[in-house]
Amino acid sequence: MQITEVKNYDEMSKKASEIIMKRIQDLPKPVLGLATGSTPEGMYKELVQVYVDGKISFSNTTTYNLDEYIGLPREDKNSYRFYMNDRLFSHVDISKEQTNVPNGMAKDLKEECNDYEESIKKSGGIDVQVLGIGVNGHIGFNEPGTSFQTATHVVNLAPSTIQANARFFESEKDVPKQAITMGIQSIMKSKEILLLISGAKKADAVYQLLHGEVSEVFPASILQQHPNVHLIADEAALSKVKENGMRSLR
Ligand code: F6R
Repeated sequence: MQITEVKNYDEMSKKASEIIMKRIQDLPKPVLGLATGSTPEGMYKELVQVYVDGKISFSNTTTYNLDEYIGLPREDKNSYRFYMNDRLFSHVDISKEQTNVPNGMAKDLKEECNDYEESIKKSGGIDVQVLGIGVNGHIGFNEPGTSFQTATHVVNLAPSTIQANARFFESEKDVPKQAITMGIQSIMKSKEILLLISGAKKADAVYQLLHGEVSEVFPASILQQHPNVHLIADEAALSKVKENGMRSLR
C-alpha cells in the first residue's frame, strides 16, 4: 500500500483530485468508482474547479457509486444520487446516463444488485475506486462480518453507521436501516484504489487497517491484499500509527 501523509483535509482533497484529474486526462474512457460522505466532498469541490478552469472534461468518463440507501427517492436530499448530482455531476460535462448509483427504490432489489454488477463488468471494470472508511472499518456499506466474497448486495446497516450518518437526517430514526452496496469483491476488482482518510476520529481505524490482521471483522483490512492501493491520510488520521511506530522505536 502506498501511503501519502498530508497536513489536513484540504491537502488530502487537493492531492486526491490531482490523481483523479490525471486518470481522466490519461485514460481514453475512464471508469471511476465514487464514494459519498464527508470525506470526498473537498475532492469533488476541487474537481469541479479544475473542470471550470478548463483543465479536464468528464465527457468520456463513466462513474459507479459504491452505495445507496434503500427507500430514499433520488430527489431526497439524503439520497446518495442527490449528493452526487449536487456535489459533482450537475456542475461538470458528464451526461447523467454515464453516472450510475444503485437504485434504492428498485422493486426487485436483488435484480438491481445483479444488474449493477453486470453493468460495471460491461464498462470494462473500475479504473480507480475512491474509498472512505467507517470508524468500524466498513468500506462502501460492507459492515463488519460481511463476507469478502460478496458482489453488489443488500445490507442491514450497523447501529454505529446509523448513528454516524444521523448527522445528515432530522433524527436517528429517519436514517434508513438498509442499503445497496458494492461488495468487497466488487471493490477488490478495481484496478486502483484511492483511500482517503481524515481526522482524529479515524485514527484507530487507520491503525487497524495498517497493522491489524486481515479479517472480515474489519472489512477494510482486505485492502492490504490489493496490489494497487494509495492511502492519502492526514496527520490526525495517522496519529495513532505514528505514535505506536515511535513507541516501538524507543
Ligand atoms: C460512502 C461510503 C462509506 C463512507 C464511510 C465514511 O459512499 O461508502 O463507506 O465512505 O462511511 O464516511 P465519512 O466520509 O462521512 O466519514
